[in-house]
Amino acid sequence: MKIKIITLFKEMFIPFLETSIIKRAINNNLVEVELIDLRAYANDKHNHVDDTPYGGGVGMVIKVDVVKRALDANKTNASKVILTTPKGKTYNQQIVNSLAKEKEIIILCGHYEGFDERVCQYVDEEISIGDYVLTGGEIAAMVIADSVIRLQKDVLTKGSYEDDSFQTGLLEYPQYTRPFNFLGSEVPQVLVNGNHEEIRKYRLYESLKTTYLRRKDLFSKYELNQEEQEMLEKIKKEALQTTK
Ligand code: ADE
Repeated sequence: MKIKIITLFKEMFIPFLETSIIKRAINNNLVEVELIDLRAYANDKHNHVDDTPYGGGVGMVIKVDVVKRALDANKTNASKVILTTPKGKTYNQQIVNSLAKEKEIIILCGHYEGFDERVCQYVDEEISIGDYVLTGGEIAAMVIADSVIRLQKDVLTKGSYEDDSFQTGLLEYPQYTRPFNFLGSEVPQVLVNGNHEEIRKYRLYESLKTTYLRRKDLFSKYELNQEEQEMLEKIKKEALQTTK
């Protein structure tokens, strides 16, 4: 997969691309990331990429002609163009899974007061990473790139993301490592007994419980099988007892 990021602040991406799993994925040619300077597509002598808004108001608006030139120069038939904006569709694991299958994505980072609205006709998808406003789309672009890169083949150890929170529709079960006893707080006994079926049940129960108690929105979309239905009854009873 290739990810092209069109931005006015390429330097923000350097530590992100040169650290840990992302760095290794790039070095092993599992993903290619290209940073593109939007300013290179300005065509006046002062390299302006933005201008004052029609109708008045504070801030500057990124010019549609500059964006169009940047896209024309970098788009291929395989490109899916994404605009990062707080007005976009809220990003979630389902969108990640679908973007991860693309051959090439172009992420256009917003900045200042936003883009000339006519930019939207040149993008395939507008994405927001949450209901809050950032100073620009660069951090959102990193969120998108990170979440998509980790799903590329051979980036993570096989199977390591299958139990991720959201991947199964449930939040992830709790994990522990040594020491077994930390200041009197012990690791659940079931995890050290070596009984894989018991461990599977424990983890499923904990996933169901955390999702049920913390994220009713996710839980309501999850289809329970017979075993999970029985676990839910137990979780409900347990929750009632702790509130008594
Ligand atoms: N730009 C500013 N805020 C943003 C958000 N929440 N998501 C994506 N891009 C943004």
